[in-house]
Amino acid sequence: MDSLQGKKIVLGITGSIAAYKSCLIIRQLIKKGAEVQVVITPAGKEFITPITLSALTSKPVISEFFAQRDGTWHSHVDLGLWADVMLIAPATASTIGKMANGVADNMLITTYLSMKAPVFIAPAMDLDMYAHPSTQQNLKTLQSYGNHIIEPGTGFLASKLEGKGRMEEPENIVACLEQFFSQQNCAKENTQQDSMKGKKVLITAGPTYEKIDPVRFIGNYSSGKMGFALANECARRGAQVELVCGPVSALMQTKFPNIHRIDVESAQEMFVACKELYPSMDSAILCAAVADFAPETTAEQKIKRTGDDMIIRLKPNPDIAASLGQMKKQGQTLVGFALETNDEESNAQAKLKKKNFDFIVLNSLKDEGAGFRTDTNKITIITAANKKDYPLKTKEEVAKDIVDELERL
Ligand code: PMT
Repeated sequence: MDSLQGKKIVLGITGSIAAYKSCLIIRQLIKKGAEVQVVITPAGKEFITPITLSALTSKPVISEFFAQRDGTWHSHVDLGLWADVMLIAPATASTIGKMANGVADNMLITTYLSMKAPVFIAPAMDLDMYAHPSTQQNLKTLQSYGNHIIEPGTGFLASKLEGKGRMEEPENIVACLEQFFSQQNCAKENTQQDSMKGKKVLITAGPTYEKIDPVRFIGNYSSGKMGFALANECARRGAQVELVCGPVSALMQTKFPNIHRIDVESAQEMFVACKELYPSMDSAILCAAVADFAPETTAEQKIKRTGDDMIIRLKPNPDIAASLGQMKKQGQTLVGFALETNDEESNAQAKLKKKNFDFIVLNSLKDEGAGFRTDTNKITIITAANKKDYPLKTKEEVAKDIVDELERL
């Protein structure tokens, strides 16, 4: 998902020959779903016209404190609160000097001084001006204020100030902002909360394997992604999670220390683990794709090919969900999944009742991007009283919706 989607960006443009490149920056930002408000210095307008910029951003360009001679004025304070980020590109030596020293003699500098959001600066000037100790000192000062300098030539956030003065290419500047917001999203996702602190949640995930002989089994396509996303989400909110999972890829890893993982192979093993754990849990979310049948017997040696047909007799596996539904005590919650291919809603309603779930999460293999192995899912949450459809989302986002519903109960 694009990290710039919906982001509000104040773009400051100053009087440099590189000002024309700000059009390319705007175009890319808008293409990626950002909203751009241009603030331009008087010198900037000598290099690029406000008409071009307002056509690209679909917003009037801000340059003067007073828009008209009618007493109305542009509020730099409002802009400072509105923005998710301020980018000054190109930033001349003069603007950099004013920013470093608080010389608030134009709308761009006052906006900068009122800015509550992070500020990125892409310097643009000739080599001698860039290398001059005063410019270098001003850049260092701006960095020490927490501003990010986009260093010419690398396209990455500056760790040192040597550079050639030429403004970084527009696509690299946009990439810097994208990287910044995706790191921010990542940090947000991994930030622990405590809305579920003190709660214990059992989660089942992945497939089960039912052995035919030492080399073959009956299984299904579950990857464990949905169940792991649920475990991570509950743990992120502070719950102690017992994650009982069938055989999943070694790449499936949990993200939080408050997840205790119990690996099992068959439905019978999953049943034993869940029955033991559930009495001490506040909730359980049963996301595993449990095999309903297992071979009646497991051959001790590899079954050889004889040329004849082969019949494997299957016996029913325990229904873990139905058993937990029977064990459920007051104050405990039980959430199930329904994976359907037809008559989705009525099948899910029947499972909700039969297994004594508090709500059931329906996903259908008819929906593209939903179900097994995908990174996305499309669900409907059904309770005895109502249902809510959700759009296609990443499994991490789907997990949030499910855990929100669990917390509402
Ligand atoms: O792992 P992924 O690749 O990310 O895929 C996710 C998923 C598609 C497996 C998941 O979203 C999902 O739908 N899980 C439930 C799959 C399933 O077995 O559905 P079901 O309709 O057959 O079972 C109904 C409910 O009873 C489920 O909560 C299931 O865990 C439970 N059950 C089923 C059979 C059984 N013997 N014991 C059970 O507890």
